[in-house]
Formats: sequence, structure tokens, C-alpha cells
Amino acid sequence: MKLFDVYPLNNITIEKANGSYVWDDKGTRYLDMYGGHAVISIGHTHPHWVKRIEGQLNKIAFYSNSVIIPLQQQLADKLATVSGKTDYQLFLCNSGAEANENALKLASFHTGRKKIVAFKKSFHGRTSLAVAATDNPSIVAPVNETDNIIFLPFNDVNALHECFVQEGNTIAAVITEGIQGVGGINVASDLFLQTVRSLCNQYGALFIADSVQCGYGRTGKFFAHDHAGVDADIYSMAKGMGNGFPIGGILIAPHIQPKHGMLGTTFGGNHLACAAALAVLEVMESENLMILTAENGAYLMEQLKAIPELQDVRGRGLMIGFGVPDQLKDLKKLLLQEYKIFTGEAKPNVIRLLPSLALQKEQIDEFLQSLKQAIMALNKNAA
Ligand SMILES: Cc1ncc(COP(=O)(O)O)c(C=O)c1O
Repeated sequence: MKLFDVYPLNNITIEKANGSYVWDDKGTRYLDMYGGHAVISIGHTHPHWVKRIEGQLNKIAFYSNSVIIPLQQQLADKLATVSGKTDYQLFLCNSGAEANENALKLASFHTGRKKIVAFKKSFHGRTSLAVAATDNPSIVAPVNETDNIIFLPFNDVNALHECFVQEGNTIAAVITEGIQGVGGINVASDLFLQTVRSLCNQYGALFIADSVQCGYGRTGKFFAHDHAGVDADIYSMAKGMGNGFPIGGILIAPHIQPKHGMLGTTFGGNHLACAAALAVLEVMESENLMILTAENGAYLMEQLKAIPELQDVRGRGLMIGFGVPDQLKDLKKLLLQEYKIFTGEAKPNVIRLLPSLALQKEQIDEFLQSLKQAIMALNKNAA
């Protein structure tokens, strides 16, 4: 049977991993500045995470949501402490798209309204409503098309005001990433997020903070939206939550009431996924990963800003992007092929860095040295 060919692949087979390094089948080591697409939060194969999952596997891996699963409550309690959202409620699912799908549905159930405000360059996932709220027509199937999504320019406070004046009483939710990831690392301004909050309050809409990529400590605070000093009504989470074990979830503000049957899933919140997610939060706490992320991110950002060829170095913590001029358009490829470093990209000519939050200072220096050499090599070729 052939694999359904939807991924443009690098011709590399990764066989093992540890911390911020991965190794291919020939034994070559790569520095992972991509974190498997922002998924590796506490480091590949962290021993505490492995032990937690192994221990759980030997007890029970799965039972359905028809019984009490104490690990879910333990995860909710730990999330309350680490995120600081102590009075929120937790619903567990399996992926980022599913988290946003549930968030959007919940907002519509709660308000009885249909319209969703989303933003240019957003990415919220590939399920029906999440993809409809994603600004990329090429991945929206005809059946996903809907008139219920209003796209506004990102960070445009006036457009937001005007939209609410015209349609405020029909809007169920505003959904926005704190930092757009797939869209190219675009940081939401504090004023923008504060305006979302106050307009949602004024018109009775819900504020959904898509934290699938920018959340879970990646910016040095638990949620990127926290930097603006506002609370959202719903936070969607996935990627870093399981450090590679598939799990997603939404945090739901206390004023939103649940009803039996309103949301549901077979696999969401299973024993094994909860054990993995608990291990992640335990390591984030014991290794002070959010503080380290803020410090290491600031250092990396400062060093990148000092490299004259890089354009508009931006981001927060360990979610960083920069543009490269046309003569450096092969930089990502060269970093991978010659310098054995994984990075991410966003078109056109934007490189994204989304490493593990446990990235060490020496690894940052290793990356910077290779980056400078790669730029020098490309400059020489262009001359
Ligand atoms: C901001 C954001 N939301 C949602 C998703 C979808 O997550 P998943 O691929 O787990 O469905 C992504 C994935 O890249 C994302 O970056």
C-alpha cells in the first residue's frame, strides 16, 4: 500500500533522539531548532517522561470517558498551578485542530450565535470550522466553506472596532493566536489583545486564545496572550502539551457552563496521554523551563538581531522568526544539509525557530556559529 503523498519530505530518516538532538539512520547527529514543529517542549525522550509513560503503560493505557479517570483531575490541578488559570475548567482532546473545533463550537453553544472573527495569516487547524477560520483557501474544501467567518487584518484595532459596531450582536467569538506561527511569527500587540478582550466583554462574545503553537511556556509565560495582561475565555492547547505524545485540550473560563453531551471524544484524556502531559508539566516546574525559555530566548534574539543579513528578527521566548534576503533563500536547506540543523520555515523566505524549551545556551551558540558560517558561504556564492 502506498502512503497518501501529502507531505513534501526531507530525505532523512530519524531513528533516535535525546534532548535537543536527533540522529538519523546513518548515525549523523542533528541539532533540532524546530522541535518537530514546536511539539518538543521538555526535550526529546526526557527520562521522566519516558518513565511516566512506561509506568502507566504497565497499569492501563486506555479506558473510555464513561468512568472516572483520576489522572485527568491530576492534570487539571497541575495545569491550574503552572498556567495560573486556577478557576478554569479543562476539556481534553487529541490535537490542536480538535481543540479549536471544540473551542469554536463551545463559543457558539454558549452565545447562541454563529459568526466568528478570525485574522489574516491565521492558522487554526484542518477540521471543518478550524480550517474555515484559517486564512488559507488552498486547504479549505468546498464543504468547509461558510459565511460565518469574518477575516480582519491582524493587529488592526480600528478594523476590529468597526466590525463589532456593525456585527457585534451576531459574533460568537474572536479567535487569535498570541503569536501567529504558520503565518510567519507575527506577534499580536498588547493593545490588539486588550481590544479583543474589551470588545468581547462589551458585546457578549468569547475570546478564544489559540495557544496551540505559541502556548505552553514557549514565550516564557504559560500563554503568549498573558504578555498583554488579559485573560481569554477559552485557551486551546496541543503541541507542547505531550512532548510528542498526541494530546490537546481547552481551558474554559468559569462563567461558561458545561452540559452533558455538549462536547465529547473517544480518545481524549486517556490514561496514557494524561501521564505524558503530567510528566511535561512536572518537568516544566522542576527544571524552571519557563524562566530558562525567557532568558535563552532573549539571548538568542539579541544575537540574531546583531547579524546584519537577517531581516526583522521577531518573536518571544523560543518562538522566533526572521526574514532572509533573496540571496539567502537556500539558508534553511543549507543549515539542514551541511550544518545538520533543523529549522522551520514560513513562506516567503522566513525562518522559524521553535526548539525545545530545554535548549541549552551551548546549543544556542552552536546554532549561531553554524548560522553565521552558512550565511558567509551563501554570500560568497552570490558574489
Ligand atoms: C496555531 C495553531 N493552531 C492549530 C494548529 C493545528 O494543530 P494540529 O496539527 O495538532 O491539529 C496548529 C498547527 O500547526 C497551529 O500552529
